[in-house]
Amino acid sequence: MEDERKEKELQTVQFGFAYIGLMFANRMLLFPLIFALQILKHKMELRNNTILITGGTSGFGLEFARRLTDLGNIVIITGRNQSKLNETKKQLPGVHIFQSDVSDPKAIAVLYKEVILRFPELNILINNAGEMRKINLHDPSVDLQNITREIEINLMGPIRMVQQFLPHLKTKKSAAIINVTSGLALVPFPSSPIYGATKAGLRSYTQSLRVQLKRTNIKVFELIAPAANTSLIDKFKNEPGFNAKLLMEPAKLIDITIKGLMKNQYEIYPGMARALLVMSRIAPKFLLKQTSKSVENAIA
Ligand SMILES: NC(=O)c1ccc[n+]([C@@H]2O[C@H](COP(=O)([O-])OP(=O)(O)OC[C@H]3O[C@@H](n4cnc5c(N)ncnc54)[C@H](OP(=O)(O)O)[C@@H]3O)[C@@H](O)[C@H]2O)c1
Repeated sequence: MEDERKEKELQTVQFGFAYIGLMFANRMLLFPLIFALQILKHKMELRNNTILITGGTSGFGLEFARRLTDLGNIVIITGRNQSKLNETKKQLPGVHIFQSDVSDPKAIAVLYKEVILRFPELNILINNAGEMRKINLHDPSVDLQNITREIEINLMGPIRMVQQFLPHLKTKKSAAIINVTSGLALVPFPSSPIYGATKAGLRSYTQSLRVQLKRTNIKVFELIAPAANTSLIDKFKNEPGFNAKLLMEPAKLIDITIKGLMKNQYEIYPGMARALLVMSRIAPKFLLKQTSKSVENAIA
């Protein structure tokens, strides 16, 4: 009798272990499956979107326009210069053009009305337009209006564009905002003191925006671009120590960016930008010394 009872107890314990084991095995299989499904579900589709790119007539913006059109999206670009827009339209006939200055809030309001009327399916905004100047802070000819020009274009521009388009983007099943910052958001560049400040500011804003939009359908990406071969940095080509070989080609940069967007990498660091991130964390003073060299030489 006693033996029978012990046998039953043993069977119950064995059954219990087997049950727990089975549950565990199930979960072990289930978790990766759920994870994979989540990734697939949230994977950014870069087809059949309607995409607005600020500053699409040269450099990264033009390359974004070319690649995103080829992938099967409707692409709308802006810029200040109408003849550059017309030229881009000749190069990429599928692209839609709007003359608009991101530093002008009234122009943003007009752009919004026109774009939403013609393209109500708009679901992706790429804040790409930007300007970078060398500024000598000792120069008395740089007046109070002029000194903040990059802040109006590179920082206030994207902030206003997001504020204007956000309610519309929220109505879309799947939407995204991509802000183009720079490796110079990670370390100051004393030759361009205002530019660096705008990119550091835009990076901070982008991180806050991502938190505030966490429970929405809008994904927030940041492209931390390294120095690349575009007209933006032509004016730095004669600087002592400038090495053109270190410049990334825009086509390669945008290729990496598109792959990053498709993989839901919310911060994309192509090429040297990754090294800058590491250096800015482990040796920020050394890094600043490197980016200060041309100004240090000039004031020596
Ligand atoms: N090239 C680099 O090494 C580098 C590195 C890191 C980050 N970035 C960033 O990447 C972005 C694109 O730069 P890029 O190198 O491609 O420069 P880019 O070749 O000079 O192109 C800039 C584009 O922005 C437009 N734009 C400038 N100001 C504008 C305004 N107020 N309103 C609307 N459009 C405006 C320009 O057209 P219009 O002049 O006709 O307006 C042009 O289409 C910028 O945000 C830049 O800061 C560049």
